[in-house]
Amino acid sequence: MSEVFTKSMARNIYYGGSLFFVFLFLALTFDTMKTLPQQDNRAAITPQVALGKRVWEENNCIGCHTLLGEGAYFAPELGNVYKRFGNSTEAIKAFIRSRPANGIPGRRSMPQFNLSEEELEGVAQFLKYTSEIKTQNWPPNIQG
Ligand code: HEC
Repeated sequence: MSEVFTKSMARNIYYGGSLFFVFLFLALTFDTMKTLPQQDNRAAITPQVALGKRVWEENNCIGCHTLLGEGAYFAPELGNVYKRFGNSTEAIKAFIRSRPANGIPGRRSMPQFNLSEEELEGVAQFLKYTSEIKTQNWPPNIQG
């Protein structure tokens, strides 16, 4: 190996290194764009799931809850509530129907939303759908 570090050697390292990382960045970008559509399980978006998302938005559920980490920290994470409730949409519907729970003083309770059966089914299907998105196992535990 040569004893002197020449200008042209420095230049080659600079350009070579830059080029290498530009290509690496592009390759990772293409890889992400290719794999992302498989993560969100979009084949499972039925009209019910779409209705549920609308119910979710119109009632501002995100104003109290997080969904896969996004939202407010007043109430539990709901991205995995379907799993937490034993893989049951019925349990989710029963919970929403049964609010508010005024039993324990000082405990936060969810209000009653007076959703129709169709809306309840939709929002439960929407929460089932979110629990099946591939999130690299996030949230890390079943409590959310
Ligand atoms: C005003 C705040 C608020 C809003 C808005 C709200 N929630 Fe809640 N929610 C809560 C609180 C507080 C709890 C936990 C306490 C309880 O048992 O009521 C909860 C609990 C839940 C649970 C059970 C979670 C668990 O792990 O026990 C589900 C499911 C749920 N909410 C769904 C919804 C849906 C769907 C909407 C929108 C239609 C919604 N929430 C809107 C406050 C809210």
